[in-house]
Amino acid sequence: MNILAIESSCDETAVAIVRNGREVLCDCIASQVEMHAIYGGVVPEIASRKHVEAISVLADRALEQTGLTRRDIDAVAVTYAPGLIGAVLVGVNFAKAVAYALGVPLIPVHHTRGHIAANYITHPELEPPFVCLCVSGGNTIIVDVQSYTEMRVLGGTRDDAAGECFDKVGRVLNIGYPGGAPMDRLGQGGDPNRYEFPRAHVNGAELDMSFSGLKTAALNLLHNAEQKGEELNLPDFAASFGQAISDSLVPRAMAAVAQTGYNTLAIAGGVAANSRIRADLERSCKQAGVKLYMPELKLCGDNGAMIGCQGYYEYLAGHTAGQDLNAYATRDISL
Ligand code: KG4
Repeated sequence: MNILAIESSCDETAVAIVRNGREVLCDCIASQVEMHAIYGGVVPEIASRKHVEAISVLADRALEQTGLTRRDIDAVAVTYAPGLIGAVLVGVNFAKAVAYALGVPLIPVHHTRGHIAANYITHPELEPPFVCLCVSGGNTIIVDVQSYTEMRVLGGTRDDAAGECFDKVGRVLNIGYPGGAPMDRLGQGGDPNRYEFPRAHVNGAELDMSFSGLKTAALNLLHNAEQKGEELNLPDFAASFGQAISDSLVPRAMAAVAQTGYNTLAIAGGVAANSRIRADLERSCKQAGVKLYMPELKLCGDNGAMIGCQGYYEYLAGHTAGQDLNAYATRDISL
C-alpha cells in the first residue's frame, strides 16, 4: 500500500511516499527556517503562505523521485493536529483535494503520533507497547504507547515545552534559529555543573514537568551578567542549561517505564536529536536494563515519512476521514 503523506503543521512543508508503513520511498522537505530566522521565531501567516507555495511542487517531486504515477497512490495521510492552525489547514485542504481527485481514503494523523512512528522507520523490529518521551518545540509529554493507535499520556510539561526553552534562550544568545541544535553544539565539551539551574517538581504528579522557571533563571543569568559587564563561559552555560533539561526528562521517562512495566523506551520529536539527552538516556537505560529506541537524527524533526508510517497503522485501525475533516491547533494524542 503506497501512502502519500503530507505534513505542514509548523515551518516545514513535507511530502513523502511510504509503502506498507515502514518503507520510505521518498521524503521531500521544504524548510522555511531561513525565512523565520529573520524574526527569531515562526510567523504563522508567513508559514501558511509558504506551505501554499511549496506543497503541490513537493507532491509532484515525490512522484517524480519514486517513478510512481498518481494511480499508484492508495491513500493520502495528513497531519490534522496539533500545530499552527493556518499551517495545518493548508496540508489538510491539499490532502482532501488529492484524496477526492484520486478517489482514495483520507487518513488523519496526529502530529505527535507521527513523531513516535519515526522510531518504526529507524527500527523495523520495534512494536508497541512501549513508553515514548516526546520532546519537541511545541510539546513535551511522556506517552504510554499501548498499541499503534492507542495512547495514554502519563505526564507532561505544565508550561513550556523543552524545545521552546532551548529556542528562547538561544535567541537571547543570538546563536542561530531555532536555538536547540546550536545550544547543543555550544554545550559540547562545556562543564554541565558550572552554573546552577532549577529542576522543578510538580507535587503529586511525579511524571509532570515544568520548564518556565528554568527558562527564566537562564535568561536572568544572561541579563544580569550583561548588566554587570561580567562574561559568562558560554559553553559551560549551554552545558549546564542542557543538563537541567535532561535531568527533568530522563528520570521521569525511566520512572514511566518502571510504572508501565514495559521495559522498552523510545524518544521522539525535534529535541530527541539532543546529544546530551541521548547520552543520558543511553546510560540510564543500560543501567536499568531497559531497551532504548531513538530515531535517526534526520527523522527527529518534522518530516512526511513519519506521517506516512503512522498513517498506515491508522488506516489498518479503520481511522479514515471524510471531506469534512477539520484541522486543530491542539488535540490530545489519545483521541
Ligand atoms: O519536532 P520539531 O521539529 O517541531 C515541532 O513539532 O515542534 O522540533 C523542533 C524543536 C525546536 O525547538 C528545536 O530547537 C529543537 O526541536 N531541536 C533541538 C535540537 N535539534 C532540534 N533541541 C535540542 N537539541 C537539539 N540538538
